[in-house]
Amino acid sequence: MTIVEAAQGRQRRATPPAGLPRLLANPTSRLDEHLDAHGPVPRLRPEALIALVERAGLRGRGGASFPTATKLRAVASGRRTVVVANACEGEPASAKDATLLTQAPHLVLDGLAVAAAAVGARDAVIATERGRTEVLDVLAHALQARAEAGVDHVPVRLVTVPPRYLAGEESALVHFLNGGEAKPTSVPPRPYERGVHRRPTLVQNVETLAHLALVVRHGDAWFRSIGAAEEPGSALFTVSGAVVNPGVYEAALGTPIPSMLVAAGGTTADVSAVLVGGYFGTWVPASALGSVTLDNRSLSAVGAALGCGVVAALPASRCGVAEAARVAAYLAAETAGQCGPCVNGLGSVSAAMDALARGQDVAGATAALHRWFGMIAGRGACRHPDGAIRFVKSALHTFADEITRHQRGMCTATDRAPVLPVPHSSPGGISWR
Ligand SMILES: Cc1cc2nc3c(=O)[nH]c(=O)nc-3n(C[C@H](O)[C@H](O)[C@H](O)COP(=O)(O)O)c2cc1C
Ligand code: SF4
Repeated sequence: MTIVEAAQGRQRRATPPAGLPRLLANPTSRLDEHLDAHGPVPRLRPEALIALVERAGLRGRGGASFPTATKLRAVASGRRTVVVANACEGEPASAKDATLLTQAPHLVLDGLAVAAAAVGARDAVIATERGRTEVLDVLAHALQARAEAGVDHVPVRLVTVPPRYLAGEESALVHFLNGGEAKPTSVPPRPYERGVHRRPTLVQNVETLAHLALVVRHGDAWFRSIGAAEEPGSALFTVSGAVVNPGVYEAALGTPIPSMLVAAGGTTADVSAVLVGGYFGTWVPASALGSVTLDNRSLSAVGAALGCGVVAALPASRCGVAEAARVAAYLAAETAGQCGPCVNGLGSVSAAMDALARGQDVAGATAALHRWFGMIAGRGACRHPDGAIRFVKSALHTFADEITRHQRGMCTATDRAPVLPVPHSSPGGISWR
């Protein structure tokens, strides 16, 4: 039987996964196996589709947790719309999108087709980082199989973007797709108003799209049957640092952080803090870990947010100030170089963090950092400086005792090996085109 016959023959609805995992339940890159496991995508009218997503309460998994139905509705009200699957995953501590794309590419592409149907799009793009050969190979084969089987009604273009932290920011991505550099542009207009070729454009993270593909198959009640009341469903978490089995895990939103660490095989050492949300995220001190769960409502009590689902456990043997200084240097180097407060401000913040890590003029560096926070936040064209400042602020708060130790010429670290991955980046070193 050819794939075309296989695709046409699979009309039965598959049984919804009862528990977890959902997205990663049937890993396969083959279209026939995917259709066997999940069944076909039901066809719904756009209004019914958007209403279903609204009832499900699906929120974006790319970082901002924005309600997906609101974005679908905004784009659907426009003409000649475009959909973009954001598979850039520029966050160095995250591997969830790459894992999803290699294990369940057709779920993502089903979701892209559903999103296209919901907003009436004729053009679809999936954008991923240049150099990710495994992801690119899987996607190229998946798209070819789908084209041969005729399962998609909208052609999908596979595009690669430069490997920069900011390339996945939606206005940067749209600018790149329009022939410019992958740098953020001033908003408004936002992509949903005027995006690719000046047309209303839906930019959606690939994990969000995969959830969409399951919501349309199994319904809103099924989707809401796990998760937190206001943030239903599951999410992919990249768990790293002091755990036995670092990797990508699917868990219900609302899962306690300690349970997430247990899911990754448990901890390998005493943990002093956990970074939640990625490099725009927040350090949650060990003392608070028992009281917060992995959903925005609970995390907001400690000034944190889900972000893109990074959960990185810092062993007590490492210095949190040194970790934060390395990430701050990376974020400063990743500025798009367009706004003064971002270029100069993040450079100064990085230098002050480096001084704190080395124990040089600790009081002066700390005072300068607090002065600069107010001068930088909210002053860039995009949220890059705000995210970087949030991360550094939380490091100053969580590692305050360690900073005092540095002031006295001491440091708790007994192991200097870095925990958080920081890719080599130098401004101008990697092209933005
Ligand atoms: C600096 C920056 C980098 C971002 N990088 C990514 C990325 O790599 N992948 C992604 O899906 N979203 C990224 N985002 C979020 C996107 O701008 C956008 O909100 C998201 O793709 C929307 O999808 P969602 O609603 O499904 O989450 C980034 C945002 C910022 C501010
Ligand atoms: S705030 Fe920074 S990263 Fe954002 S557009 Fe301006 S210079 Fe670029």
